[in-house]
Amino acid sequence: MVAGVDADAKLTEARKNEHLKVVAENKVEWGETWLDDVVLVHQTMPEINLDDVDTSVTFLGHAYALPLNISGMTGGTAAAKQINRGLAEAAQRAGVSMGVGSQRAMISNPALLDTYAVRDVAPDILLFANIGISHVKKYSPEQIRAAVEAIGANVLCVHLNPAQEIFQNEGDWDFSGAADALKTFCENVGYPVVAKEVGHGISMESAKIVKECGVVAIDVQGSGGTSWAYIDSLRSGKDATNFKAWGVPTAAAILECKGLGLPVIGSGGVRSGTDIAKCIALGADMTGIALPMLKAVNAGGPEAVVLYIEKLKTELRYAMFLTGSRNIEELKKARYVLTGRLADWAKQRGLL
Ligand SMILES: Cc1cc2nc3c(=O)[nH]c(=O)nc-3n(C[C@H](O)[C@H](O)[C@H](O)COP(=O)(O)O)c2cc1C
Repeated sequence: MVAGVDADAKLTEARKNEHLKVVAENKVEWGETWLDDVVLVHQTMPEINLDDVDTSVTFLGHAYALPLNISGMTGGTAAAKQINRGLAEAAQRAGVSMGVGSQRAMISNPALLDTYAVRDVAPDILLFANIGISHVKKYSPEQIRAAVEAIGANVLCVHLNPAQEIFQNEGDWDFSGAADALKTFCENVGYPVVAKEVGHGISMESAKIVKECGVVAIDVQGSGGTSWAYIDSLRSGKDATNFKAWGVPTAAAILECKGLGLPVIGSGGVRSGTDIAKCIALGADMTGIALPMLKAVNAGGPEAVVLYIEKLKTELRYAMFLTGSRNIEELKKARYVLTGRLADWAKQRGLL
């Protein structure tokens, strides 16, 4: 390994460890998802039996017990290995999917492959690989394809994270040419690509650009949950006070991105089964949760993650029953009312 690559690998590994530490020791959730501004209309005559409510769904060709993905978080360190394997075991048992964190570390240092490798404990799940848009510009499609292949992933998330990069001292905030790079990448990488934010949301304008580039789905990762501008500001010392809650709130981001003809993952601050129900009713096809999954696996291993997912599923079933939705297709048509800032946003952006 050449010295430069080695140094890059060490920097990436240190950053991943610091991220886990900062997340564990600080309040890192800021802002509002505006899911509270979505009121599902209660149906006191639902005309269905709770026992018949079915939360299962098919997404990108895979069967799920409920529309839930464990959003990609980590890899590249010994602690990350434990986390990824615990989450993967839980995903397999609970019938959901998961993503790994940025695979930049293992591209710089292939010896780190086993910190992302989960197929032995999760042979059947849809597995999302992960790389940043800045790495798409830096590495060849062949290098990234090899990293996806090495972990047996089905789909590759490319994270778009300008708000995070500007609060890193070592960040890459040159986003010029990113669309051209993403388009060439999608054409050559040989895997379906999902465009993903990291907690600051995707607008309609940006969604249209990434659709043109050839992505197969959009993971909105809106604001209101974990704030990556804030987390990296704690590492860098840059003042993010006024950017902690920056972004397109999750509920607004779903409205922004639906209707473009691509599947949408509603994510960023999703915490409960009722949140999941609201995301689906708003127009998402899938949902994603990151931070609470990390907390659960750290607290009680795969068992705690499975218990959390079971609770989400129960709440989702109840919300479906109370909106008269027998299945996810019917939940997509459930009646809702938008209030407050979300209603204003939807009106001004022509999304009603
Ligand atoms: C510890 C941690 C590490 C993360 N690392 C990555 C990453 O490497 N790549 C990525 O695309 N997103 C990463 N994320 C962002 C999540 O996938 C997600 O977009 C964000 O945390 C918002 O979701 P939440 O509010 O449910 O946590 C990370 C999140 C956490 C909590």
